[in-house]
Amino acid sequence: MSILVTGGAGFIGSNFVLDWLAQSDEPVINLDKLSYAGNLENLASLKDHPGHIFVQGDIGDAELVAGLLAKHQVRAVLNFAAESHVDRSITGPGEFIQTNIVGTFHLLEACKAYWQQLQGEAKTAFRFLHVSTDEVYGSLEKTDPAFSETNRYEPNSPYSASKAASDHLVRAYHHTYGLPVLTTNCSNNYGPFHFPEKLIPLCILNALNGKPLPIYGDGQQIRDWLYVKDHCSAIRTVLAGGRLGETYNVGGWNEKPNLDVVRTLCAILDELQPRADGQPYSSQITYVTDRPGHDKRYAIDATKLERELGWKPAETFETGIRKTVEWYLANQAWVGNVTSGAYREWLEHNYGARA
Ligand code: NAD
Ligand code: DAU
Repeated sequence: MSILVTGGAGFIGSNFVLDWLAQSDEPVINLDKLSYAGNLENLASLKDHPGHIFVQGDIGDAELVAGLLAKHQVRAVLNFAAESHVDRSITGPGEFIQTNIVGTFHLLEACKAYWQQLQGEAKTAFRFLHVSTDEVYGSLEKTDPAFSETNRYEPNSPYSASKAASDHLVRAYHHTYGLPVLTTNCSNNYGPFHFPEKLIPLCILNALNGKPLPIYGDGQQIRDWLYVKDHCSAIRTVLAGGRLGETYNVGGWNEKPNLDVVRTLCAILDELQPRADGQPYSSQITYVTDRPGHDKRYAIDATKLERELGWKPAETFETGIRKTVEWYLANQAWVGNVTSGAYREWLEHNYGARA
């Protein structure tokens, strides 16, 4: 038996694969298209690991997926593959529709056909776990209660709308065909191997390179931050014990305004690698034009996951962000390789026109 992880060369997927193989002998089939966000260097430590089988391909290629499921007797599919960056969904939504909606549909079709011909215990034990986001619930006001699993879906960006659509497809495949699905809706992750287009890694790298730390709008938008290893442990927990057809919110109980997040990582850098001129890194903070349709606040109520399955995050924001800054300082070769030509083009595209 084995598990099939899609998007396992991306930020969360690669952390998941690494953690899985550190704890289990069960092989991982890793299906990843290797888009700009996919990076086999994240998995370099698995180079000679017999339990890691990497396949470059698209979740939308149902024939490829069908072949992998049958060949490796897959007992669970974990769908991390997606276009994941909100800003990119604003400038180019097409890829988000293609992978997050159409791709998930083809993946579900292949999984349904495979699951339907399984027999006995193999059929009962099969799982399709869909990795989704808190952004599907829309935006909260400051005093609103945190998102629970019963909040209605109110996605506001092309990214969150495409994730919402994929969540609905997953739900429908359970209700209509009985496919044994689980869905997790998680808050903002951070940690090792985070591609530096997202706020935290972008600001760590810009700080070290003497560049502006771009804060959209007034920087008072709030996100709930979860260390990526805690997200991976939550997914393992839901896979092992989640109730079929249920959704589980995953969060860190760490709500922070963006400005506080950036100030915190600046203070850690001041301590670990002070600027040559003695000035604080926070002096590089620069306010830029806001993201269109910018959601004000996300907050996750992860009570259901704790109550039903006993999951809790291991890291606080303070411990997790320190580990993250230390990881980026210690992994400059990885940083050098991901900040290549295509990455610089994105920075020019996204930040060049912002006042
Ligand atoms: P990422 O952008 O770092 O990685 C996505 C991976 O998917 C890449 O390796 C990419 O090559 C691969 N991929 C893209 N399209 C594909 C396709 N058509 N077929 C196969 N592979 C494809 O994303 P991430 O931050 O690791 O997010 C992983 C999942 O978790 C996504 O579904 C995302 O919506 C969800 N999520 C992310 C966060 C977060 O804070 N990053 C929070 C909650 C949920
Ligand atoms: O909430 C979960 C989501 O978190 C995931 O589903 C997404 O895949 C993931 O990318 C993340 O989305 P966000 O849009 O919240 O993450 P991002 O790091 O892009 O932005 C975090 C906050 O920081 C957000 O309020 C926008 C702001 N921001 C972001 C960038 C890149 C800035 O102020 N400046 C920036 O340069």
